[in-house]
Amino acid sequence: MKTYSVTAKAHPNIAFIKYWGNQDDSLRLPSNGSISMNLADLNTTTTVTRNPSLKSDHLELNGATQSGPTLRRIQQYLNLIRKIYKRDGFLEIISTNDFPMSAGLASSASAFAALSIAVAHLFDLHLSQIELSAIARLGSGSACRSIPRGYCEWKTGSRHEDSYATTIAHEHHWPLWDCIAVVENKPKEVSSTKGHSMADSSPLQQVRVMDTQRRLDICRNAIIKKDFGALSEIIELDSNMMHAVMMTSTPPILYWQPTSLLIMQEVKKMHQKGTAAAYTLDAGPNVHVICTEESYEKVEDNLRNIPGIIEILKSPSGSGASVIQPTSPN
Ligand code: PMV
Repeated sequence: MKTYSVTAKAHPNIAFIKYWGNQDDSLRLPSNGSISMNLADLNTTTTVTRNPSLKSDHLELNGATQSGPTLRRIQQYLNLIRKIYKRDGFLEIISTNDFPMSAGLASSASAFAALSIAVAHLFDLHLSQIELSAIARLGSGSACRSIPRGYCEWKTGSRHEDSYATTIAHEHHWPLWDCIAVVENKPKEVSSTKGHSMADSSPLQQVRVMDTQRRLDICRNAIIKKDFGALSEIIELDSNMMHAVMMTSTPPILYWQPTSLLIMQEVKKMHQKGTAAAYTLDAGPNVHVICTEESYEKVEDNLRNIPGIIEILKSPSGSGASVIQPTSPN
């Protein structure tokens, strides 16, 4: 009996070594490799249903029917998948996040990871985890790192087929935590898709890309050896390097807010006093404070004393994306 509805779940991920800029914008082939950690306690759940009566794809996000650019991005993605795998039929997509969308977190990673895995199952594509990671990348680059579990590395590749992420360590190997200090709850002014296309306009991007292999090696080794000192140094450097590129693009992009800088300075002080904590910021002002299992409660308490933080979300390292419910008509 043909499956007609599939539900899948995925977590967002936080990059330790960041992806910024593409060799090919349409295929989202990155300029540099990256390493990330999936976030267990933040979830996107997506149900995809085949509905022969639909005249076009339908998207519902957190209970609201979508139109405009959000729907168009999903339609473009589905058209690509239907074209590559020679499938047809419009789909109904119902997706929910259990973390606040207003927090401006990287929900596109978990969104496209959950969508890719659900659509691949619904269309009976029988893809390997590597192939699933590559097709998730076509929707949002960082989504390829939300397919495998735990700590993941995305190697750049030079073609669609060889640009995907794999696990370098399971989430239980070293249960690090991410305490996310939310400092702004408005959507970001410059989307990451736009930001990637501007990266090469910064004179610093070439130097950042050339130095990436070194940072990847340090970060991967630090994860494998559970060396927080080495990890904290490299992730803060990598975040600063990406933001230096953003700030020196034409036109410049300045994601940091005064509170972001205040938190970064406080995290430095915490670390100097012996608390395992390190900051990293994605394309936005919210500060991700990476800490160990022993230190996250202390970090959270310290963050609560900093003025200007709207809320604090936290999560340990997590698994990859999975199908949770295929349903067949009876
Ligand atoms: O996947 P995108 O296009 O949303 O880009 C993600 C960019 C950063 O979050 C800033 C860095 C990263 O590697 O996740």
